Amino acid sequence: MAESISFEPPRGMRDFYPEDMAWRNRVFDAFRAAGAAYGFEPYDACVVESYDLLARKAGEEVGEQIYHFRDKSDRHIALRAEMTPTLARMVAQRQGSLAFPLKWTTIAQCFRYERMTKGRKREHYQWNCDIIGEESMLAEVEVLGAACDALRRMGLSSADFKVHVSNRALLSELLAAGGIPSASHPQVFLALDKRGKMPDEELCAMMRENGLSDEDVERTFKILDISSLDDAAALVAPDSPAVANLRELFRLAEVSGFAQCLEFDISVIRGLSYYTGIVFECFDVKREFRAIFGGGRYDNLLTTIGGAPATAVGLGFGDVVVTELLKARLGADAAAEKKGVYVGFMFPEQRDAALRLAARLRAQGECVNLALRKAKPKQFFARAGASQCAKAVFIGPDDVVAGQARLKDLATREETTVEI
Ligand code: HAM
Repeated sequence: MAESISFEPPRGMRDFYPEDMAWRNRVFDAFRAAGAAYGFEPYDACVVESYDLLARKAGEEVGEQIYHFRDKSDRHIALRAEMTPTLARMVAQRQGSLAFPLKWTTIAQCFRYERMTKGRKREHYQWNCDIIGEESMLAEVEVLGAACDALRRMGLSSADFKVHVSNRALLSELLAAGGIPSASHPQVFLALDKRGKMPDEELCAMMRENGLSDEDVERTFKILDISSLDDAAALVAPDSPAVANLRELFRLAEVSGFAQCLEFDISVIRGLSYYTGIVFECFDVKREFRAIFGGGRYDNLLTTIGGAPATAVGLGFGDVVVTELLKARLGADAAAEKKGVYVGFMFPEQRDAALRLAARLRAQGECVNLALRKAKPKQFFARAGASQCAKAVFIGPDDVVAGQARLKDLATREETTVEI
């Protein structure tokens, strides 16, 4: 007897049955439409990269989660955990010939060996929008505007989600004003980014291990209690560039019409070490789910991998969390609008008429699902109702004689006549 193997996909990986694809398409369609509406050009790249490009300093979670292996020629290869290093590599390769600023977008499958929790898989698709070579805040505004637009296209509004925005430079200024030496800031960022994911005592221990005194740790936590940009501004220099920067971002978002989707949140840090300025993370308003998307400004990544200097802003927006949120807010079977016509026949004698009608409707641009077998009317309409079609035509012997049949709207039950 054949040895039985599991029919489940490997842990953390997903299969997409048609009902799952309906959700995926709804999400991807919104990604593509929003990317196009904001003028981002699509690109793509290989899923495997050299391990050296992706591996980074210890302490960063993503670096530790990389799937990597040696190929048959002993090359150290990895599956991408995110798109940003690959994007940087592609830009660096053609840095002399590309026209900056460039706005690129992609939907990339990414792999991370994560602990499996709600909203976290070991494989996910991530929509990326990045602007390379633009220093002004308009880059942040366009990236954030595109992300909010995608959520709106999926059927969500600012009543469902908020983008929490901060500036790493402001947190640095606040830490410096609290007497915490700048050499410790990167370690403090990494520790604070884990807040909520591990107990505060463990974070304190992490910071102490990195040379912070008990007093410093206490001051660091106090900073996280700051709840408004005005309160933060009062603690740093009056001409703080980081504060001015954030005020400009909120102002431009107002002009652009999506300021209601943003809020200042000093606790947004981001786990990736390459961010240099504005950072943001989007959450559902009820805070039931993990982050919907995240990103920020990363002005040094090109030089870190050996390219020429180039400023950059971008975001990664996964498909997993937003799909969970959509199912919760819109209902589990609201994935796709029904469209097209289900065409069927009662006896083999009407099969040609059904096929001819299907061909004509398709030629007119209609989507047609042709029933492949004869059916009784009840059976046919039950199947039509369960299908993705909005309308149905059932052809019986009398219809062929009359040369016309009834086209039924499956939702309203209204009927019109079609020639057959
Ligand atoms: P990230 O915060 O690591 O950023 O991931 C961005 C988004 O990808 C998350 O907010 C979440 O929606 C999704 N995501 C990440 N890991 C998983 C997972 N294991 N399962 C399901 N969804 C996940 C980045 O990756 C940056 N490279 C984004 C970026 C682009 N920054 C600049 N440009």
